[in-house]
Amino acid sequence: MINKKLVFSGVQPTGNLHLGNYLGAIKNFVLLQKELNCIYCVVDLHAITVFQNPKELMKNTLETVASFIATGLDPNKSIIFNQSSVSAHSELAWIFNCVSRVGWLNRMTQFKDKAGSNKEKASVGLYIYPNLMAADILLYKATHVPVGADQKQHLELARDIAQKFNKDFNCEDFFPLPEPLILKNISRVMSLRDGTKKMSKSDESDYSRINLKDSPDEIIKKIKKAKSGSEPIPDNLKSLEEKPEALNLLNIYTEVLKSNLEKTINEMAGKEYSFVKNKLTELLISEICPIGKEIKKLINDETHLREVLNKGAEKARIIAEENLKNVREKVGLI
Ligand code: TYM
Repeated sequence: MINKKLVFSGVQPTGNLHLGNYLGAIKNFVLLQKELNCIYCVVDLHAITVFQNPKELMKNTLETVASFIATGLDPNKSIIFNQSSVSAHSELAWIFNCVSRVGWLNRMTQFKDKAGSNKEKASVGLYIYPNLMAADILLYKATHVPVGADQKQHLELARDIAQKFNKDFNCEDFFPLPEPLILKNISRVMSLRDGTKKMSKSDESDYSRINLKDSPDEIIKKIKKAKSGSEPIPDNLKSLEEKPEALNLLNIYTEVLKSNLEKTINEMAGKEYSFVKNKLTELLISEICPIGKEIKKLINDETHLREVLNKGAEKARIIAEENLKNVREKVGLI
């Protein structure tokens, strides 16, 4: 039987959350929580696929919870917890390691990007990471997964795993095929320094991104330094597409303003980039800085953040254990 709608998504606790995480994913988490049952997970087991300093990892896990709450997620409405506190994630991931195919994982572009030229030295965890991600989602039989465009391929793999499991164990419809919810207009926020690369926590230059905790001064400096163009803003999308940095700035402006790109182009055509940069800076300061302030306030109350995680994990465990019990039966594990 196919479940009713259930939303699941995850964010890695690897440091500062940025505008890409916020506009591409977390803002949508908050909207979805109004209508549907939602589970949001701080995926600490994913983070350790690349070495993390243990103290930093704990701090970043709590800070990610603080960021969830500061952006509007409500622990009384959504289940908020950290992945490693529900051990069923790891157990289902192992079962999926045996369902998923090496050929499927070999196609994952994120592994190639992250492992770079030194594939032999990458952790095995980094390679099989998409199987764990499939387990995160399917453990709850989630039907909808809000993510940025960079996670699309992983979602396709999760669907392939669900399908193969249902076929191998002769249980049609046991796992739903989870659908990615990728925002049309802002599925990929790009780096402020290079419009062909996505905005990322791992970029060496802090000038490439706006962090949720940035001060107004930092936002002013970063937008001022952001790459744009020397000619006036063009009046059509085609010309703008040849300038990915400029297009990125206009896309961010449009998204924060809740407008559409056509309107923005009409408003900005013929103006200097300094004009859009000034407007964007104002908008970002009013959208991001209150969130940053709230994060900084919340991270001082570690007891409360741990309580949120514990309560969330208790709720998650109930669903996870029931589903895992059924999976074990299907697979023939006593
Ligand atoms: P992570 O932690 O890298 O990013 C969290 C979310 O932010 C989105 N995102 C972006 N969206 C638009 N533009 C950007 N520049 C940008 N950068 C990041 C990501 O797409 C993501 O939605 N593998 C996942 C975490 C994960 C997960 C899951 C997600 C683990 N298990 C199950 C969904 C369901 C990741 O590393 O996200």
